[in-house]
Formats: sequence, structure tokens, C-alpha cells
Amino acid sequence: MEQRNGNDTSGTGKRICVVGASGKLGRYMVRHALERGYEVVGVCRAKSVDKLAEFAGRITVIPGQTNDREIIARAVKGCDAVLTVLVPWGMQNYSSGTAQAVLDFAEPGARLVFSCGWHITRDGQDVYGWKLRLLETVMRKTAKLIRFVDLNDQVEACRRIFASDTAWTVVRGSDLEEGESQGLPVWSRHVGDPVLASNITRRVDYALFMVEAATDDDLIQEAPAIVGRLTPSALAHAGRR
Ligand SMILES: NC(=O)c1ccc[n+]([C@@H]2O[C@H](COP(=O)([O-])OP(=O)(O)OC[C@H]3O[C@@H](n4cnc5c(N)ncnc54)[C@H](OP(=O)(O)O)[C@@H]3O)[C@@H](O)[C@H]2O)c1
Repeated sequence: MEQRNGNDTSGTGKRICVVGASGKLGRYMVRHALERGYEVVGVCRAKSVDKLAEFAGRITVIPGQTNDREIIARAVKGCDAVLTVLVPWGMQNYSSGTAQAVLDFAEPGARLVFSCGWHITRDGQDVYGWKLRLLETVMRKTAKLIRFVDLNDQVEACRRIFASDTAWTVVRGSDLEEGESQGLPVWSRHVGDPVLASNITRRVDYALFMVEAATDDDLIQEAPAIVGRLTPSALAHAGRR
């Protein structure tokens, strides 16, 4: 995958849908997509439409819950790519409902790029250190207890995506931080690979990876785990995947 340059017009003449456009990650994705010349359709909850004010007149906004099948069917129509923020909010199968709607209604052959965390595993070959395992167990239990976040539903969403024969990519994010772009993150197939050890990515670059993935054929049916390209582990191990 090439490092991005300021004249990238890879999106010209193409339509891209960002499902979950109003969040921090979503807004960065919208910005990157517009910079590449894509026509952008954004889906976000009605109460969050104002968070997209900076893009007024430049994108089409479809307000609604992202797991609303009718909303998704409308939003992904005619799209060459669909970028989805898989949010494990609430206990109403929000992530899996969103993923299923995208899988069902996206155009045949469209590139489908989903975001999630390192805790998702595709083949069971990921190796998690004790800190990550402990954090995930505590989060999973506490979150389910207060019925706020359902990590298991994000797992179910990804299970459905992995089983699908669409042109999907599941991007697995490390811990995130704000800050200036370091460029396109590096990736590896398995958590536990030395290149990922720093476990941190700038949010703006996570979004960059999501948008770039929409045109990178090497990432079709891959679940890259990513890390910032200027982190110590990436600098020490990049290129040795
Ligand atoms: N945060 C991390 O450290 C981290 C690490 C690895 C991977 N990720 C992945 O990154 C993606 C999200 O990125 P983020 O953490 O930076 O957050 P974010 O971009 O700010 O996104 C939060 C999303 O959750 C939605 N949301 C908030 N409350 C909701 C509710 N009650 N019901 C439905 N939707 C709700 C927001 O929509 P509104 O704008 O409508 O509120 C927004 O789309 C996820 O796929 C996550 O798995 C995050």
C-alpha cells in the first residue's frame, strides 16, 4: 500500500458510504474520503447530525440508527465502498445488526471495510499479553453488567463478516490517541506479532487506513491489526511481516 500524497484522486467518480460518520473516527474518515475526491454519504443518529456541520453541502447525510435496515439500504445504494464503525453500544445487537444490514444491502462487489478492536480474532492465532486479556475480561463483564457496551455483539458482527463472501476487510485497531498524522499505519495478521507491540495508533491514521483499505486489493478478506507507523515497534519491525 502506497504512502498517501496530497494529490491522491483515487476516489474521483466513486461513491463511498461512512456508517457512523459523526463519531471521532467517522469524521476523520469523511475528511480523508473528501480529500480523495469521493462523493460521500454519511449515516449517523439523528441527534448527531450537527456534529457533521463542517461538511455541510459537501456530503449527503442520512440520519438514523446504523442498525436500521431501511436506512442502510438507502445509504449504501450505488456505493463502491462502505466504511463502517462497528460500535458495541447498548444491548440491542447494534454492531451485528449494522454489519448484517451492510452485508445484505451493499452493491455486489462493493468494498466493505469494518472497524473493531484487537480483541476480535479471525483464526484464533492472535496472542494476547496478560494486560490485554485482563482489561478485556474486566471490560466485557462490567460493560455487560451495566448494559452499556456489548463486546460480544462486536464479536458476533465480525463472525458474520468473516463468513461472508463479500469483498470485506476488518480493520482491528490498537489503543488510540489524538495527534498529528504519522502516515499510514503498519499492519500484521496477528496480535502478538512484534511489530504491533507498541499498541498505539493516532485516530486520524486509523481513519486513513480505513479509507485506503477501500482500494487496496491485498486487504480483501483480511483482518489487519494495525499500529502507528512511527511507534517504536513499527520502526523496529516494519517490513518483516
Ligand atoms: N477507542 C479505542 O481505543 C478503540 C480502540 C480500537 C478500536 N476502536 C474502534 O474504533 C471504532 C470507534 O472509534 P472511537 O472509539 O474513536 O469512537 P468514535 O469514533 O467517537 O465513535 C463512537 C461511535 O459510537 C456512536 N455512539 C455513541 N453512543 C451511542 C449509542 N448510545 N448508540 C449508538 N451509537 C452510539 C457514535 O455515534 P454518535 O456520533 O451518534 O454519538 C459514534 O459513531 C469502533 O469500531 C471501535 O471498535 C476503538
